[in-house]
Amino acid sequence: MLQAVLLLPLLIFSLVDTQGGLETEAKPVNGTSPPTPSYEPWDRYRLPDSLLPEYYNVTLWPRLHVDEHGMYIFTGNSTVVFRCVKETDLVLIHSNKLNFTTYSGHHAILSAVDGPSPPAIKTTWLQVRTQYLVVQLNGNLVPGKSYQLFTEFRGELADDLKGFYRSEYYQGSELKIIAATHMQPTDARRVFPCFDEPSMKAVFHVSLIHEPGTVAISNGMEIDTVNVTMNGFGVFQTTFQPTKRMSTYLLAFVACDCSHMRTDERNKVTIRVWARREFITEGSADYAFKVTGPLLELFETFYNWSYPLMKYDQIALPPSSAGPMENWGLVTYSEAAILYHPERSSNKDKERAATILAHELAHMWFGNLVTIKWWSDLWLNEGFATYMSCLGTSKVEPSWNLEDLMVLDAVLDVFVDDSLPSSHPLSTPEEEISSPEEINALFDSITYSKGGLVLRMLSDFLPDSVFTRGLAAYLKQFAYSNAGYSDLWKHLQGALDQTKGANLPAAVHDIMNRWILQMGYPVVTIDSRTGDISQKHFLLDPESVPHRTSPFNYEWIVPIKWMKNGVPQSQHWLMNKTAQHEAMRTEGAEWLLANINMSGYYRVNYDLGNWERLLIQLKTNHQIIPVINRAQILNDAFNLARAKMINVTLALRSTQYLSKETKYLPWEMAIDNLDHFFLMFDRSDVFAPMQTYLRKQVEPLFRYFKTITSNWTQLPSGHTDQYNQVNAISLACRVEVSECQRLVLGWYKQWMRLPDSNPIPPNLRWTVFCHAIEAGGEEEWLFGWDMLQNFSSQEMVHALSCTKEPRLLERYLKYSLDPKHWRLDASTTIGYVATNVAGQALAWDFLRSNWRHMVNLYGKEAESLSEVIRKVTKRFSTEQELKQLQQFKDDPSVTESESAAAALQRAAKRTTANIQRRPKIMQSPQKDGPPLQPRPARHRPRQTSPGTDTGSRTVCSLNTTS
Ligand SMILES: *[C@@H]1O[C@H](CO)[C@@H](O)[C@H](O)[C@H]1NC(C)=O
Ligand SMILES: *[C@@H]1O[C@H](CO)[C@@H](O)[C@H](O)[C@H]1NC(C)=O
Ligand SMILES: *[C@@H]1O[C@H](CO)[C@@H](O)[C@H](O)[C@H]1NC(C)=O
Ligand SMILES: *[C@@H]1O[C@H](CO)[C@@H](O)[C@H](O)[C@H]1NC(C)=O
Ligand SMILES: [Zn+2]
Repeated sequence: MLQAVLLLPLLIFSLVDTQGGLETEAKPVNGTSPPTPSYEPWDRYRLPDSLLPEYYNVTLWPRLHVDEHGMYIFTGNSTVVFRCVKETDLVLIHSNKLNFTTYSGHHAILSAVDGPSPPAIKTTWLQVRTQYLVVQLNGNLVPGKSYQLFTEFRGELADDLKGFYRSEYYQGSELKIIAATHMQPTDARRVFPCFDEPSMKAVFHVSLIHEPGTVAISNGMEIDTVNVTMNGFGVFQTTFQPTKRMSTYLLAFVACDCSHMRTDERNKVTIRVWARREFITEGSADYAFKVTGPLLELFETFYNWSYPLMKYDQIALPPSSAGPMENWGLVTYSEAAILYHPERSSNKDKERAATILAHELAHMWFGNLVTIKWWSDLWLNEGFATYMSCLGTSKVEPSWNLEDLMVLDAVLDVFVDDSLPSSHPLSTPEEEISSPEEINALFDSITYSKGGLVLRMLSDFLPDSVFTRGLAAYLKQFAYSNAGYSDLWKHLQGALDQTKGANLPAAVHDIMNRWILQMGYPVVTIDSRTGDISQKHFLLDPESVPHRTSPFNYEWIVPIKWMKNGVPQSQHWLMNKTAQHEAMRTEGAEWLLANINMSGYYRVNYDLGNWERLLIQLKTNHQIIPVINRAQILNDAFNLARAKMINVTLALRSTQYLSKETKYLPWEMAIDNLDHFFLMFDRSDVFAPMQTYLRKQVEPLFRYFKTITSNWTQLPSGHTDQYNQVNAISLACRVEVSECQRLVLGWYKQWMRLPDSNPIPPNLRWTVFCHAIEAGGEEEWLFGWDMLQNFSSQEMVHALSCTKEPRLLERYLKYSLDPKHWRLDASTTIGYVATNVAGQALAWDFLRSNWRHMVNLYGKEAESLSEVIRKVTKRFSTEQELKQLQQFKDDPSVTESESAAAALQRAAKRTTANIQRRPKIMQSPQKDGPPLQPRPARHRPRQTSPGTDTGSRTVCSLNTTS
């Protein structure tokens, strides 16, 4: 420990100065839309309650070829039958971006289903802002009577991933088009006029017209395909079984030339998985196909409800497609989300596939059978699917320790966001959410990850079987209908009340509303000298003030599972701001640990003595502490230090025991927390001692993996061991353990000799490519470049930015803007190069001198531009860099782009803060420091297409795009 002790003062110095963190800027979160100034019904985003849809007959014809105007379009017609429940002279129905055929100047034809004719149409128009087709009548519709509205329309089959869209890919040299849909949350109205709110459930009779050589699929099973002649062309028309009563956002229509696998068991649900022909042939859909059946049976048991439809289709769509979406009976995914090839894909890909498959399947009941009343309850839908995904996956892949992984991911995903003053509660008042923008903004990490964690906490503190019994009762009452969170609390309470001997300190809704109606979470502090316990809203920046007030004054009802000296104790409830629990008083060397298995959504702090005893326990025998709590201790310590609640020395000392740790969770947590340090100090004098310290910590881990992989000749058998092997290699190479550098370069050279057989296992490619190119020279780089020309490989795109050679980095930057090298995306490449400490300055210069070009390439308000600015400037911490930033900001070519100017403004703010926080000693940049590379983000990037049910935010799944 000598080394470490010597090093500590320096590091502590650094730690203090990263207060506030690097990536924790407040994102404005604002749920309130300006009050609508007008009072006309068509000016409001919400439908009036006068009409209820019963069923629709929809025929759609997507064209997979450009029309005479060079446009891809679809055409269609639809009849909606609806019942009048309140007298009205208006039919308001959602419609967006559709062009209508007119009849006597009107957009629609209205008739009665039975009984006398309805009043004549006075006028019709499209209300663009609120996305309605408005039909105004000369008289009133009669309550109790049903009517039908017929429309004929056309829309663009654009490649915008919304509504009915097209996805393109190449089969050999042939361009192929797929027509697919993504409706959630508010884009069914782009496909045909409909009452596009989740409570407006109806039955849908669908028929699709499609070209020869394609199949058509939808929510219901195909019942009939016939040849028809349209405009002189022979085409097919496929008709589907009518759906169950369902919400519009769950509809799906696909026409493609794709192949499938299917189960064929009598009296059982038909399961099919669809994908491009080549992927089915080579077996990439096998895994998805294989796990779906067991998951389905598992959920049927868990929900105590048979799968409600006759078939379950899942389709993998080419890269230019929207994210996972739980359409009822036809789930759409991107290929990257669920395809898995044993020789090309990593175990992370496999885990992602399993968790996303489970997430979407879980929605078939929770979400589709019973649907939220309004989007303000989205967290319930997504949090639940997230939680169920973990439950389901851990059953079909029991060796993965999925629940622990889920918690790790969710905590890393949401604990920082939710400790900012700008966070927001899980549940938003209904009236704050009405426009499509407000609805789309709900798809965030709070909704998915916090939602999942809070429900996990609930199922954990409820006595056995209460959760499942309550849930089953809830499904039973609201099947084919809609409900809200209070309904779920009610049924859980009901199940609890029927359970003899079960009791909670308060009603389910009293406990749970604390967690969903106020934002953030508490830090619970336990004083082991007195047994005093207290709670406080945890804010990363202790000086910040929450942007919202809380109905509960930021007080939670906290379930505390804890242990004393490794022995589990009976659960305690913290009901108030402060309390005293005699049993939590310790004596002598006894230590306490609270929030066992991190089953509660909070952090824990202790008196200093207890912290010391915990650290001693970690160093002497860490196995007594559950692995997930070892990760928790590290994460809480670092974050409590950032919030100035404990001394930073303590946080750092929590990493000392790692030289004995071999498990993934604590290492992942430590590396995640240490990444901030790498970034701030890799150009400073602290860097060398930091390297030395970490080398000492990681060397035993590296040797451990060398042993269990028989000298790197096989993969570790455990799922999380495979992840930690990546950590071991990437950290060891990063801190220049020479054996690691030899290892990766050896592998790489072996590949160079036999380019057709890559010996590097897919799991390790990201890390090995990068560190081999870093340790190698021009030859290695050129080989990588050649390989990239043959295969699209994000690992290689990244790895080429890892070289230390400025010449090569410069060349790489130049290539990134050359249209010849279409596999490179300039903003991604520049971002990668900037992350390399050797490329930081080069990337910054390159970005400035090629700004015009970038603006032309992406468009001046493109997100890619703000993103690249953020990446290139994230290390900035000197006066000179600040000056350069300001000069660039005033450049006329920059000021014309609002979003870029804003990104530079944020960068300047961050740089100023970094300058103030950096003591003088660290301001001599080390020009020739080794490049440090990011690990592949375990977390998915922020969602780019709002409204996708990314499974991506699933707490148990891993890195991918949405
Ligand atoms: C939030 O909305 C309110 C009311 O419209 C407005 O006054 C306030 O400035 C907004 N806050 C942010 C951070 O946008
Ligand atoms: C809708 O389609 C169904 C099934 O084809 C048919 O029975 C029904 O009459 C149609 N309704 C209307 C209003 O066209
Ligand atoms: C809707 O369109 C289809 C295909 O063009 C056509 O066969 C059908 O008759 C149309 N329905 C109505 C009610 O006009
Ligand atoms: C709809 O009408 C607008 C205005 O005439 C036109 O620009 C657009 O291309 C039309 N869309 C389709 C799909 O025909
Ligand atoms: Zn979901």
